[in-house]
Amino acid sequence: MGTISFSHNQTVTTKNFMVCFMDTIYVIDFGGQYAHLIANRIRRLNVYAQIKHPDVDVAELENARGIILSGGPKSVYDKDCPVFNADLLKMNVPILGLCFGHQLLVHLMGGIVEQGFKEYGSAHMRIRSKEDIFKNLADSELVWMSHGDSVKKLPDHFKIIGSTEDCPFAAIHYPGRDIFGFQFHPEVSHTTHGMTMLANFLDICSCRRSWTIKNFISSINDTVKEQVGDRKVFMLVSGGVDSTVAFTLLNQILGEDRVQGLTIDTGFCRKEEMAEIRELMRSHKLHNLLIQDHSDTFLQNLKGVFEPEKKRKIIGKTFIDVADKALRQLKLNPNEWLLGQGTIYPDTIESGGTKNAAVIKTHHNRVDIVADLVARGLVVEPLAQLYKDEVRELGIELGLPERMVWRHPFPGPGLAVRTLCSTGEEEEIVPIGYQTKSFCQEHGFGVAVLPIRSVGVQGDVRSYAHPAVLYGKQDWTLLEKMSTYLTNKHQSVNRVLTLLAPSEMPSLRLKKAFLTRDRLDLLREADDIVMRFIEQKNLDRIIWQMPTVILPLTSDGKKECIVLRPVITRDFMTARFAEIPFSDLSVLTQKIMDLGGIDAVFYDITHKPPGTIEWE
Ligand code: XMP
Repeated sequence: MGTISFSHNQTVTTKNFMVCFMDTIYVIDFGGQYAHLIANRIRRLNVYAQIKHPDVDVAELENARGIILSGGPKSVYDKDCPVFNADLLKMNVPILGLCFGHQLLVHLMGGIVEQGFKEYGSAHMRIRSKEDIFKNLADSELVWMSHGDSVKKLPDHFKIIGSTEDCPFAAIHYPGRDIFGFQFHPEVSHTTHGMTMLANFLDICSCRRSWTIKNFISSINDTVKEQVGDRKVFMLVSGGVDSTVAFTLLNQILGEDRVQGLTIDTGFCRKEEMAEIRELMRSHKLHNLLIQDHSDTFLQNLKGVFEPEKKRKIIGKTFIDVADKALRQLKLNPNEWLLGQGTIYPDTIESGGTKNAAVIKTHHNRVDIVADLVARGLVVEPLAQLYKDEVRELGIELGLPERMVWRHPFPGPGLAVRTLCSTGEEEEIVPIGYQTKSFCQEHGFGVAVLPIRSVGVQGDVRSYAHPAVLYGKQDWTLLEKMSTYLTNKHQSVNRVLTLLAPSEMPSLRLKKAFLTRDRLDLLREADDIVMRFIEQKNLDRIIWQMPTVILPLTSDGKKECIVLRPVITRDFMTARFAEIPFSDLSVLTQKIMDLGGIDAVFYDITHKPPGTIEWE
């Protein structure tokens, strides 16, 4: 058995914060989109799982009870890659290879993998042996396939335990060594009984089911106390789920005298957000969160600015300046203080890190004292081993309200991103032409292009183009089709909207408008109506994020327009627009129009790509 190389597109995790006394399953990440999903599923089965690189040293795999080799985009024959540590296969623990991991096992153990036999979608797998990993399953199970290569010949000692019509080696087993391989993905929900298969694997590994939030709390308690010693912890608290849970946890562990929090009110937060944080802390009897209102400084620095990137830069710099000033006033001695951060597990791994975390962190980390503490390694990250769903569970366990724990992600620069600005000077719009107009008409829609531009994304390239509006008919299936048609056909169109109110499409022109308190207040009210609406309709856990945006488009030089942007997404890298029933939307739209000062309410019907989630 030799070594083999793989693409090196992830980085190692941060230092292992948890006292790792628990039975652990290690997920070896070959760059597949599902590596985090595998680890998360194992944890839902109450066994601790960690993600590691293919070249990980065996000595690093403390308390290993089993190893899962993930899927990945490469073929076992690809040469452009770093090393897989084949010593992992010599460890005396059960191994499960999934998709690429399955092919790798076959390849390394003397079988043959064939390139280029693609299969994608659901398949019925006939189970040959309903024991071990297929215990408690039916004779035939629905499984999810997504692979380019496939196994052609098994190595010695392996036997087939499941096959589909197109894939004879869908599941294999080396009985003497407890090595299993699945060509399909048990970790995705399309594999109906994937969780049973993974639970069976955990039984084969003899894993104790000890990963629970209660156990986590007791172990993190000791770890934090040990790390902090007799020092104290300072934290910038944004009001988002992660930093609020981390702050509350640190308070519970260390006591309020040894923790200090600071929240900077930029003026770009949601309605009542600062009051809610204050109330939350009051109800937890915590008096150590300082909330400072710096909204005047932010608005002053953004006067007359309209370019999205410039706005972001100014907000970032202003944040650093005001936080630095506030920290100097607090006179924290770096010899006595550590920095608390709400970093969560996917943020510590490059391949899973979100833009959210990265952006917020750059702002926080550039504040002088924060940068100093980070550089000296004086950072406490009590959530660094947790996934988002676990952070939420922990939040509930700590007594935080459901509403806070299930908050949608909200960008650091907040409503400032969602307030589009303009000098009022219109640019020439590329006409969409007669053919497109008549195509839309044939389908019952009028179409117009709006004289404003917003950011979009195609591949890795960002676009800055105009939105088109479809009006006159309410039919989600048709609207989706027309949206794709318009953005595919016209490069000058990167988003498509549909008109919700008024009933006739108004004639709109661009107006001069920047970031001002009155515009932010109007958006804040509209956003609040939207947030309450999705909460009442129980849509807040189906829809992942729902930005409300204000556009400087007007019929009379005064009023403005609102856009609703509800999306369903798993990772925020791609997203689908959500389809809220039109009857509900008419009630919502009326409430927004009743605020006054609004010309029209639009609904964004663009997937990502070609649109982005946020408008800027
Ligand atoms: P886009 O608009 O790129 O957004 O599709 C993807 C995710 O990133 C969030 N986002 C931000 N988060 N600061 C943040 O903290 C930002 O400047 C920022 N811009 C976008 C966005 O809300 C979505 O969840």
